[in-house]
Amino acid sequence: MCGIIGYIGPRNASEIVVEGLKRLEYRGYDSFGFAVKTDKDITVLRRVGKIGQVTVQELGLPASGLAFGHTRWATHGGVTEANTHPHNSQDKKIIVVHNGIIENFQAQRTFLESQGMIFYSQTDTEIIPKTIEYHMRKGYDFIEACKRSLKHLEGQYAIVAMHEGENKLVAIRKEAPLVIGVGDAEFFVASDVPAFLDYTKKVIFLAELDMAILDGKEISIFNLKENSFVHRPIDSIDWDAEQAKKGNFEHFFMKEVTEQAQVIERACSINSEIIKDVAEEIKKASRVYISAVGTASYACMHATYIFAKIAKLQTTFYLAHEFLNFKNFLTPNDLIIVVSQSGESADTLGAIRAAKIAGAKVISIVNTMGSSVMRESDKSILQRAGPEICVISTKAYTSQLAILTLLAYELAGKYDEGREKLRDLVRHIYYLTSDSVRKFLQRIAENLRYAEHVYLIGRGLQYPTALEAALKIKEMSYIHAEAYAGGELKHGSIAMIEHGTPCIVFTSNETEKETLSNAMELKARGGYITGVGPNNNPVFDAWIKVREAEEANSICQIIPIQILAYQLAILRGCDPDKPRNLAKSVTVK
Ligand code: G6P
Repeated sequence: MCGIIGYIGPRNASEIVVEGLKRLEYRGYDSFGFAVKTDKDITVLRRVGKIGQVTVQELGLPASGLAFGHTRWATHGGVTEANTHPHNSQDKKIIVVHNGIIENFQAQRTFLESQGMIFYSQTDTEIIPKTIEYHMRKGYDFIEACKRSLKHLEGQYAIVAMHEGENKLVAIRKEAPLVIGVGDAEFFVASDVPAFLDYTKKVIFLAELDMAILDGKEISIFNLKENSFVHRPIDSIDWDAEQAKKGNFEHFFMKEVTEQAQVIERACSINSEIIKDVAEEIKKASRVYISAVGTASYACMHATYIFAKIAKLQTTFYLAHEFLNFKNFLTPNDLIIVVSQSGESADTLGAIRAAKIAGAKVISIVNTMGSSVMRESDKSILQRAGPEICVISTKAYTSQLAILTLLAYELAGKYDEGREKLRDLVRHIYYLTSDSVRKFLQRIAENLRYAEHVYLIGRGLQYPTALEAALKIKEMSYIHAEAYAGGELKHGSIAMIEHGTPCIVFTSNETEKETLSNAMELKARGGYITGVGPNNNPVFDAWIKVREAEEANSICQIIPIQILAYQLAILRGCDPDKPRNLAKSVTVK
C-alpha cells in the first residue's frame, strides 16, 4: 500500500531508488515518482502506471547522492499524474512522499487555502509539504518545521521529506512502516527491507513517532512523543538479496510457490522453545481468539479446526476488521493470536490494539521482522519464510499453516510428532511443484480458462482450503470463484450450478464419504467436477492427486490450486505478480 525508498550517500541515489522502487512495486502500482536533489535544484518526476523495467537513463534522472521514490496505491484522489507522489510545497522547495492516510486533510487543506496556498492535487499528501512550508514561512528551519507540522496531522503515515537547501532526508513514521538501512557512510529508508537488501542487512526499525534525520554521515532520531533524541538499536536481517529476486523464474509467484518445500522445512526448524513459550501463554488464557485478514485469515480459520482436533482447544476466529464488534467481551485473561505476512495490515493492527486496550495478551505469527504487528505483540513467532514479493500470498500461507500445526501439536504435548508429520510432507511438496505436475495442471487450466464461475467445496479442514483456493483463482485470473462448506451448497447456492459449471471438490480420508455425496449433488445438476485429494472416484471428471496428510492436508492441497490459478492467469493474459486493484500490504482500514 504505497512503497517508499530513499537514499543518501556516495552512490548514485537515482539508480538506487529506481531499482529499489521496482522491488517495492508489490505495495502498489497505480503510479510512481521520484525526487532527486542535486547541488543546483530538485528534479521531480511523476508517471502513471507500473514502473516496469524502465531505467534511470530512460527516465532522465540526474546523478546525485540524495533521492527518493514512491509507488502509489491510490486512496485519496484518482490515478492521475497530478495525484502521483512526490508532492511539493508551493515554493517547490519542500518535497514529500507519504504512505498512509492523513485523516484531517480536508480541514488542514481549508486552513492552508485560507493562508493563500494553492493545491494542484486531490491527495491528502499535498497538505504535508504545504504545512511544512507554512511553518518555514514563520521562520522555523526545515527540521523544526517538520516537527511542528506533525502536530497538525492526524492519521497514519510514513513520510520522507527533503528540502532544497539541506543535504538531508527526514523520515517520520506513525502507524505505517518505515525502516532505515544502515550502510557505510550511507543510509537507506524504505517501507520494506527488500528495497535495499542488495546493499545492507543492517537495519534500524523506527518506533512510533520517530523522526530520523539522515545526512550522508550519521543518523539522529528524535521521538516526537518523548520530545527528545533517542537511541535505536541496529538489527540484522536474515533475508538475503537473492531471496528477493526472481532468479530464473518468469514471475515471483511461481518462484514462491516452488519454495514451499523449503519453507515448511524452515518452519520445522524454528526454535521449539519459542513455540513452547507461546503455547504456555495460550494454555494460561481463559479464552483464545484468532484473527487476521486475507489469506492469513484462512490460515486462522484452519487453526480453529486443528486446535480443536489436535489440542482439544476451543478458539474463536474473527476477521480482524470484524473483531472490533466483539471487543466488549475481552478481558485481561484472554489472548488473541494474530497472523500476518507483512505485519503491517491496518485491520490486523486494529484488532491487536483493541485487545491491548482490554488488557488481553497478543501473540503473533508474522513473516516480517520488526513489523508493527511484531512490535505490538507480547510474543511472536517469526515465520522465516523469506521475503514474499508477489502480491498474492502463497508460501507465507503454507508456512503459517505449518507453524499453527506445530503449535497445535505442542499444545497437545506432542510437538515432535507434529514436526515429523510436517517433515514427512516435504518430499511430496517438491513433487507437487515439479514440472510434471505443472504440465498436468496446464491441461486442467486449458479446460477452465473460459469459465465465468468456479464453485469449490470442502468439509472440515478442507473448507478453509476451499476458501483460500477460491481467493487464489479470483485474484489471479479474475474468474468468479466461490467456496462453500460441502454441506452448505445445497442450502441455496446449488441453484447456480448448470450444465458444465466447473466445480472443485477437496476430499480427505476423513471427509470423503460426505464430500463425495455433495460432489454427486453437483454432478446431478450438470457440474463438471475436479477432485483434489488422495483417492480418485467415478464422480470426478478430472482428478488432482494429493497424498493423504491428515491435519496437514491443507498444506498440500492448496499447492496444485496455486499453480492452476497461475496458469489461468497466464492463459487469460493477467499479470500474476501484480493483479489489478490489489496491494500486498494494506496499511489502511
Ligand atoms: C492484502 C494482500 C493479501 C494478504 C492480505 C493480508 O490484502 O493482497 O494477499 O493476504 O493483505 O496480509 P498480511 O500481510 O496481513 O498477511
